[in-house]
Amino acid sequence: MGNSTAFFFVSLNIFSLLVLFSSFNNGDAAVDRNLVAAQTHDFHIIKVNSLLPDSVCDSSSQGRKLPTSSSLKVVHRHGPCHNRHKTESPQSPSQILTRDNSRVDSINSRISAKSVENTLTSTRSVTLPAKSGLSLGTGNYIVTVGLGSPKKDLSLVFDTGSSLTWTQCEPCGGYCYNQHDPIFDPSDSTSYTNISCKAVKCKQLKPSACRGANCIYGVQYGDNSFTVGYLAKDKLTLSPTEIINDFYFGCGQNNQGLFGQVAGIIGLDRNKFSVFSQASKKYGKVFSYCLPSRSSGSGYLTFGKSVVSNSTQYIPLANLKGFYSINIIGIYVRGQKLAINPTVFSTYGSIIDSGTVITRFPSEAYTTLRDAFRKQMSAYPVANPTKVLDTCYDFSSYTGVTVPKISIEFGGNKIIDLGITGILYVVSLSQVCLAFSTNTGVTNLTIYGNVQQKTMQVVYDVAGGRLGFGPNGCA
Ligand SMILES: *[C@@H]1O[C@H](CO)[C@@H](O)[C@H](O)[C@H]1NC(C)=O
Ligand SMILES: *[C@@H]1O[C@H](CO)[C@@H](O)[C@H](O)[C@H]1NC(C)=O
Ligand SMILES: *[C@@H]1O[C@H](CO)[C@@H](O)[C@H](O)[C@H]1NC(C)=O
Repeated sequence: MGNSTAFFFVSLNIFSLLVLFSSFNNGDAAVDRNLVAAQTHDFHIIKVNSLLPDSVCDSSSQGRKLPTSSSLKVVHRHGPCHNRHKTESPQSPSQILTRDNSRVDSINSRISAKSVENTLTSTRSVTLPAKSGLSLGTGNYIVTVGLGSPKKDLSLVFDTGSSLTWTQCEPCGGYCYNQHDPIFDPSDSTSYTNISCKAVKCKQLKPSACRGANCIYGVQYGDNSFTVGYLAKDKLTLSPTEIINDFYFGCGQNNQGLFGQVAGIIGLDRNKFSVFSQASKKYGKVFSYCLPSRSSGSGYLTFGKSVVSNSTQYIPLANLKGFYSINIIGIYVRGQKLAINPTVFSTYGSIIDSGTVITRFPSEAYTTLRDAFRKQMSAYPVANPTKVLDTCYDFSSYTGVTVPKISIEFGGNKIIDLGITGILYVVSLSQVCLAFSTNTGVTNLTIYGNVQQKTMQVVYDVAGGRLGFGPNGCA
């Protein structure tokens, strides 16, 4: 490694963390809506074997037409539709929950104003200040985009909690982890440009630093994963007809941590450098997505207006430090509103997040929900709690079960009924858990997670100051 590249060698020992990728079998918490045998007014009646994940990619779901020409197909990172190196084992439902906690911690530290300034140091002259917890670690859903001319396809995790999009870049001056796609090589792209250190864009990027004439970005994640490299711009291809020229992104030279084998992250938060902000010139301030019910299915991410169902319910949407902030008012179990004072949710605020798996409620709200749920589930044998989930059942000796319906009331008095996929998280048939959890700190905010968003078309209409939940967005 010559002098020119040594700069990127950040001396953090994260290899011990990589060992955490041990070999577990594929699994997912999804439940197939199609196999829901019947429904009564108050209960979901489900076949227990419909709770098991599929081990093969659902080709009918893969072949489904995307809503618009600016739509990308969304697949689960640990499901059978995502191509991986044979060496990478998908994470188990239980490993996914462990990562989920570190994301929640990062969100809370980014929300609290007094987050510590960490220093992302390099062995050479440049020091890059990085706010601890500024970014969140990766989420669980993948899209494939094209970068450069001619375009090279890259699988990226999409994340409504991240700003700058980045991908690993040749010559990998510090370190590149194994990824499934070939690593992006700027010297093969005729439209690639390094951003100068003097450019306004470099000054707008926080944190940034200079190395010679080049603008350097750095992102450090809550779990000590990080990426450092050149701020660059190139052509971003969403589909053959949809191209964003001059797309700013991080060309990562030193990338270390628990990124699995994805090529990087596509940032969709409200900040300036996110793809949402950069695409808004072309598509307006609106995007939508649908997360599939099963890890073997596929959904979509659409930039710009999409066709929405006329029964889409809209709730007010605000900005909370770059996150998408919503109001939660109450919770219903079997159609009965639980006795929870709405100020329990509003005092520290609520956000919706694509990357958090399990919804986190303030402890008072969670306990009330859990107790009401347990009361309805008292006929079933209890199973051990796991990670953040403390209400689990053993369904292994049943063919069918009845589970009480849960609905969430949002600002604007809109009540969203959750499908069974939004209520249960399946570790195995002998450990099926209530898919909600509690905050660890009283001042922590409410996070509406992705399990509760599955199959709905979630519309981020920032221009209209509203968020929509549409039924039957994807299967
Ligand atoms: C970008 O900067 C790096 C480091 O100085 C340099 O090696 C590379 O050739 C530059 N790329 C372009 C297209 O200017
Ligand atoms: C929604 O659209 C469907 C089909 O176009 C129509 O049958 C239905 O009446 C509409 N519902 C509402 C509430 O407008
Ligand atoms: C969240 O809760 C944890 C644990 O109590 C606490 O350490 C942290 O400061 C809280 N974060 C915020 C932003 O309130």
